[in-house]
Amino acid sequence: QDIPVITIDGPAASGKGTIAARVARSLGFHYLDSGALYRLATFAALKHGISLDDAAALAAQAANLDPVFDGEKILFEGEDVSTAIRSEAVSSATSQVAAIPEVREALFNLQRRFARAPGLVADGRDMGTVIFPKAELKVFLTATARVRAERRYKQLVERGEAADLDALTRDLEARDKRDRERETAPLRAAIDAYILDTSEMDIESVEKKVLEWWQSR
Ligand code: C5P
Repeated sequence: QDIPVITIDGPAASGKGTIAARVARSLGFHYLDSGALYRLATFAALKHGISLDDAAALAAQAANLDPVFDGEKILFEGEDVSTAIRSEAVSSATSQVAAIPEVREALFNLQRRFARAPGLVADGRDMGTVIFPKAELKVFLTATARVRAERRYKQLVERGEAADLDALTRDLEARDKRDRERETAPLRAAIDAYILDTSEMDIESVEKKVLEWWQSR
């Protein structure tokens, strides 16, 4: 693997998406939001009436996903689904679909293909452990469930959506538990990952830290 890869894994709403996108922009690297692929696979299943228990049908569909990334937008079957795939309903269903080994297998090559020159920043749950085990820099971001729920709450309120902090905290914890306890590619830090608790940090300081690690590798 000659293409430089930075992996940023962590639990839901740990800020990895924001940080990964900023680091990618600052280094001129490509960016892979792997969660968006799992979300899209789930959204497509719901849209096409595929049962979330039908592993074979879910995997077949995931293998044929052909998402178009247009800047910040994700287009699917001619529709901008960027907002739809981030609804709480899709988030929760996604962690069920993502636990299915056949679905993960079906998305493996699609994710690996994002590693193109001059480099890639990939965020998710298993970027450093499974998809890019030879990545040059691996980061694992954490923050307390409350802090993460508060960040998500702020986002929702800013978008003018209704939000309930206690419900958000519970949903995040349930999703993390499922992601951590699944058999295949569970959420965990690679042994060679830098672990950073961002509970008390702002975005700029986290980005700075990751860039420092990159420069001093
Ligand atoms: O990162 P994001 O919150 O968008 O991911 C949504 C869900 O997709 C996660 O809760 C997890 O179940 C799944 N996921 C995964 N592996 C990844 C990225 C996301 O299982 N690499």
